Amino acid sequence: MDTLLQAVNLIKDYKSKDGISTLRVLDGVDISITRGSIVSITGASGSGKSTLLHILGGLDRPTIGDVLFRQTNLNDLSDDNLAGFRNKNLGFIFQFHHLLPEFTAIENVMMPGLIGGGSLDELRGKALELLRKFSLDNRQDHRPSELSGGEQQRVAAARALMNDPDLILADEPTGNLDDKNTEGMLDLLFSLRDQDGMTLVMVTHDLKIADRCDEQFVLHKGQLRSNE
Ligand SMILES: Nc1ncnc2c1ncn2[C@@H]1O[C@H](COP(=O)(O)OP(=O)(O)OP(=O)(O)O)[C@@H](O)[C@H]1O
Ligand SMILES: [Mg+2]
Repeated sequence: MDTLLQAVNLIKDYKSKDGISTLRVLDGVDISITRGSIVSITGASGSGKSTLLHILGGLDRPTIGDVLFRQTNLNDLSDDNLAGFRNKNLGFIFQFHHLLPEFTAIENVMMPGLIGGGSLDELRGKALELLRKFSLDNRQDHRPSELSGGEQQRVAAARALMNDPDLILADEPTGNLDDKNTEGMLDLLFSLRDQDGMTLVMVTHDLKIADRCDEQFVLHKGQLRSNE
């Protein structure tokens, strides 16, 4: 099996503001993610799911432990190199969207492409095509504040796909969506795997969605166990 991402013995401590106490959120997490698989992570609120996803995607660094993406150990990359690496290889769908408020929907979707370089016309065309997939082409000129929560979530998903990433890390990607849009989002994510071999790691509290994934993990007391 072709391993795309591997994390070894991840420990994450958060220090309290006064620096006296520490909170150990991840306590020796190992995970191995096969290319082309769809993996779910569930767990109680506050169990560390977002923390883990951020570390797997190089948005945060573990206190101890390593994350390897193919042959690259993210610990070996400087912050600048890590940002470039993320832009090229990864797509994030965040729990709270993180859209840029000053920019329109289509500009937000184009952003990873702009950072990566490319002609404006081409990027705009690609972004519009992605917005269309999420039935949002008629909202392309709306700013995030002029979009509903579910629309913002779909814009964030379109943005995550802009650079054709090998790996998507999605934090509650259907959290703000109604049943119809939840189905649409899942169908699209699964079809990207089926057609393009994309790999997806998805945090969800919805056990029905977790059930559809190839592999299911539960985070509990800082440790990850496979649910099979
Ligand atoms: N920057 C931080 N500094 C200190 N503590 C933090 C920080 N970020 C998160 N925590 C704490 O770490 C724990 C895990 O947070 P995390 O956001 O990873 O949980 P989660 O499983 O994603 O929860 P939810 O399902 O509510 O989104 C929480 O108890 C939280 O209070
Ligand atoms: Mg979270």
